[in-house]
Amino acid sequence: MKNIRISILGLGYWGPNIVRNLLKVPGAEIVSICDLDEKKVKNALSTFPTVKATSNYKEIILDKSIDAVAVATPTETHFKIAKEALEANKNVLIEKPMTKTSKEASELITLARKKKKILMVGHTFVYSEPVRMIKKIIESKRLGKIYYYDSTRINLGIIRSDSNVIWDLAPHDLSILGYIFQEDPISLQAFGSSHINQKSEEMAHIIIKYRNNLSAHIHVSWLSPVKIRTTIIGGSKKMVVYNDIEPSEKIKIYDKSIKISPAKITPFSPAYRSGDVVIPHLEEKEALLTELTHFIECIKENKKPLTDGTEGLRTIQLLEATDNALKTKSEVKVL
Ligand SMILES: NC(=O)c1ccc[n+]([C@@H]2O[C@H](COP(=O)([O-])OP(=O)(O)OC[C@H]3O[C@@H](n4cnc5c(N)ncnc54)[C@H](O)[C@@H]3O)[C@@H](O)[C@H]2O)c1
Repeated sequence: MKNIRISILGLGYWGPNIVRNLLKVPGAEIVSICDLDEKKVKNALSTFPTVKATSNYKEIILDKSIDAVAVATPTETHFKIAKEALEANKNVLIEKPMTKTSKEASELITLARKKKKILMVGHTFVYSEPVRMIKKIIESKRLGKIYYYDSTRINLGIIRSDSNVIWDLAPHDLSILGYIFQEDPISLQAFGSSHINQKSEEMAHIIIKYRNNLSAHIHVSWLSPVKIRTTIIGGSKKMVVYNDIEPSEKIKIYDKSIKISPAKITPFSPAYRSGDVVIPHLEEKEALLTELTHFIECIKENKKPLTDGTEGLRTIQLLEATDNALKTKSEVKVL
């Protein structure tokens, strides 16, 4: 089968990572890279001298020999670029968050269906080895009944002008939650504050309620002196700590739990149980490489992507719910 000819739009922080990984994907052929900013194009060309470059994305849209585009431009441009690309019969990978509104996301889904093209969203963590391992652990029921998901995703900056910290960082957790629990939330609350730009929240907490007394707490911030990427998943039997900053040993399964036996109320009740800590082996594989390999496979085999447009839309709907919760300072129903 012929190679999938692909172009990458946006060569800021994330775009060059897409280029670097796509060069390793079998069956993918990078035709060109593009950024409005000539300096970014020059920089990228010094790292990837074998690809063609342009500062005008319309050249890519008009080139009928290009099968697919990866859009890594700022969120506010995703809809326009993705829509033009789909209309020009190209398969599209859009970075997270998919669009600025759920209306835009729905329009792209409809257009992709009409054009019979693959529309995939860059929910990269769904393709990461630790997150895939966590899903397996949960499905094996080793943790027992799941009580909570508690994530801290904080660092100093990068303060974005086109979104608040929730739209920037929480898509990661929202997509992980959808993937590992396969469960729609019932309601959410959000609290946030702005200290530097006075326009949008730079730090925030989101609390999400699910059925069966499961809850998620997500703390995102651009105002932390240190970078923390830690998630704890607590269950009735065992608990998992996932530290994405660790170079290896990213996941630890703690054999710890608490039990109260109503029959034996003593000064030593409740009983705290503490056993071994297990560190599962994880394959060393970059999530973005797995994601891009999947995108190319989906195009070749006309398969539905794991993180398709509908998954992207689901995340946008939850982000809109956080906007609503921040504005109304109240719990918002999302089911
Ligand atoms: N999946 C992930 O883990 C992950 C990680 C980081 C960023 N992202 C996402 O990737 C996207 C880009 O983020 P970033 O941090 O690289 O932003 P960035 O601001 O560093 O880069 C965006 C680039 O797009 C260029 N650009 C803007 N409009 C353009 C157009 N019409 N044509 C061509 N180029 C254009 C800008 O000049 C800039 O160089 C965002 O949606 C972000 O949320 C995803």
